[in-house]
Amino acid sequence: MTSKSATAKAHPNIAFIKYWGNSNSLLRIPANGSISMNLESLFTKTTVIFDDTLPSDEFYLNGVLQSQEDTQRITHFLNHIRNMANISSFASIHSENNFPTAAGIASSASAFAALALAASAALQIELNETALSRLARLGSGSACRSVPSGYVEWQTGSCDEDSFAFSIAPPEHWHLSDCIAVVSSKPKKVGSSEGHELAISSPLQNSRIADAPRRISICRQAILERDFDSLASIIEIDCLWMHAVMMTSIPQLFYWAPATLEIITEVQDWRLHGLPVCYTIDAGANVHVITESAYEKEVTFRLSQIPSVIHVISSQCGRGVELLSKIT
Ligand code: PMV
Repeated sequence: MTSKSATAKAHPNIAFIKYWGNSNSLLRIPANGSISMNLESLFTKTTVIFDDTLPSDEFYLNGVLQSQEDTQRITHFLNHIRNMANISSFASIHSENNFPTAAGIASSASAFAALALAASAALQIELNETALSRLARLGSGSACRSVPSGYVEWQTGSCDEDSFAFSIAPPEHWHLSDCIAVVSSKPKKVGSSEGHELAISSPLQNSRIADAPRRISICRQAILERDFDSLASIIEIDCLWMHAVMMTSIPQLFYWAPATLEIITEVQDWRLHGLPVCYTIDAGANVHVITESAYEKEVTFRLSQIPSVIHVISSQCGRGVELLSKIT
């Protein structure tokens, strides 16, 4: 029996400028560019063991064997890597998230970034950051942004070769935190892969995409200049653009809960009174409240005082994917 294994760790990321809709859904080439921040305190750790004796891939999440259906997406992704290495062995995949998977925090970004590195390293495929980001993108679009460190931009590109993410500033460039107000732990009604397909059915999507380069440029500049006010207004507008598209898709995708709006209102009031805070929301009801890290405790406390908030998960800006060990 021959087995080759490696373990990698990756962080999820929160998008400041959102990716919603693909120009090529097979290759996950996005309809617009996006910008995000990695979340240091949250991570996925994945070990991949390629084993000639396995009859199929097997996937364990937090120690629990996952269904055929959930394993299929991983098998499909690993096939790209098996093709690169010209092997056919199946693998045993063991992933652990240190954050509740059911808390509605996107775990596919950290999952596929960690899987891309662990699987390629186990098979001795040397990939630079760009190639690894392209590979992770094939598993989940936003995963390509969890490969580089800190504040990251994903350039749209037009094909597999030029659609990848790169770092625009390291984590220590600006001490920002994401305080995630968890208001629902129910799984999403419609997952993002399905949601991306619906984006174009909204009459607003083309305008959203046409204006994206302007929003990207403002956001990038705000990060480079550590300009919180400018960052806050572009993050919120961009989030509303995405949710407007979701809400006007056919069928409509309505992710907000009453608590979502309640938190938005509070955050805007806090900012009006001088606290550096702004909100963004992914494909779910939870609200990500971005603040300067000096105010992380204060914001976490204020959010936890809102009765509809179940709990708050906070994180500073994080590093890119890293290889923890390798046995070949
Ligand atoms: O990578 P996906 O297919 O899970 O899509 C992510 C979509 C959003 O989280 C809503 C936006 C983003 O840019 O992360």
